[in-house]
Amino acid sequence: MASNPAAEPLSSPDAHIAPIDGGPDCSYCNNRRFVIDAQGALKPCPECGVAATWKVQAVDAFSSRSGAATKQTFFNFKTTFDGRQDELLHDCLESAEEFAAEPAGHWLVLWGERGNGKTHLCAAVANHLIAGGTAALFITMPDLLAALRQAMDLQNNTGQESYTGRMQTFKTAPVLILDDLGAEGASAWSDGVLFEILDYRYRNRLGTMIVTNCALQEFDPRIASRMQDAALATVIENRAPDYRLRPIDKR
Ligand SMILES: Nc1ncnc2c1ncn2[C@@H]1O[C@H](COP(=O)(O)OP(=O)(O)O)[C@@H](O)[C@H]1O
Ligand SMILES: [Mg+2]
Ligand SMILES: [Zn+2]
Repeated sequence: MASNPAAEPLSSPDAHIAPIDGGPDCSYCNNRRFVIDAQGALKPCPECGVAATWKVQAVDAFSSRSGAATKQTFFNFKTTFDGRQDELLHDCLESAEEFAAEPAGHWLVLWGERGNGKTHLCAAVANHLIAGGTAALFITMPDLLAALRQAMDLQNNTGQESYTGRMQTFKTAPVLILDDLGAEGASAWSDGVLFEILDYRYRNRLGTMIVTNCALQEFDPRIASRMQDAALATVIENRAPDYRLRPIDKR
C-alpha cells in the first residue's frame, strides 16, 4: 500500500509533497530538504542537497567576492616568472590548494606584503569550494565589521535581533576566508569581535583561512597564539614582490 507515496492522504506524515522550491523531486527527504539524523538533529538532506545550496547562498550574501574575484583561480595563479619557478610562491599556491581540498579541521594563515596574490588565493579557494557546493564565506575584515555595525544600527532602529544572527553566520560558516586582517584599524571592539569569531572556530575546528599584511606578533596575543597552533594551522609567508610592479612581459 505505502509503496506509492502519491496515494497517501495529505494528512499522513508520509504524504508526498511536491517540490515547490524548483528543486528535484527527492524521495529521500520527501522534498522537505531536511532530514533528522541518528542524534535527532535536523540536517540538510544528503540526497538532493537542496538545503545545502541554501546555506551556500545565505553565507555568500555577505561575501566580499566581487566581479574580479570570480575569475581568480588556482589555474591562473602564476608561480613561474622569466622561466624560473618561484618556490615560495609555489608553496603558497600548494598550501591554498591543500586547504581547499580539505578545509574541515584546518586553518591556513597567509601573510605578506601587498600585491603578491594573497587575495587572489582567497578568491581561488572560495571559488573552488562554492563550485563544489561547500558554504564558504569570503569576506574582508573591514567588510565583516561594517556588516556587524550595520546590524547594530538595524537592531537599534527596528528592535529586530540581527547582530547575533550575523555574528552566528561568521562563527559557524563551514568555511570562513577572512581577508585583510589588521586593515581595520584595530580597536577594543574589533579585537573582541575577531577573538569571539576565531575562538569559536578554533574550539570547533572549523575550516578558516586568514590573510593579512601584518606580522603575527602584531595581533592580540590570544589571537596570535591560536593562529600559530601547529596542531591545526599552517602558517605561510608570501615573500613574492608586488605582481602589479612586474613588467607586463615578465608576468
Ligand atoms: N602569482 C600571480 N599570478 C597571477 N596573478 C597574480 C599573482 N599575484 C598577484 N596577481 C594579481 O595581481 C593583483 C594583486 O594581487 P592581490 O591578490 O590582490 O594581492 P594581495 O592581496 O596580496 O595584496 C590581482 O589582480 C591578482 O590577480
Ligand atoms: Mg589583498
Ligand atoms: Zn532530499
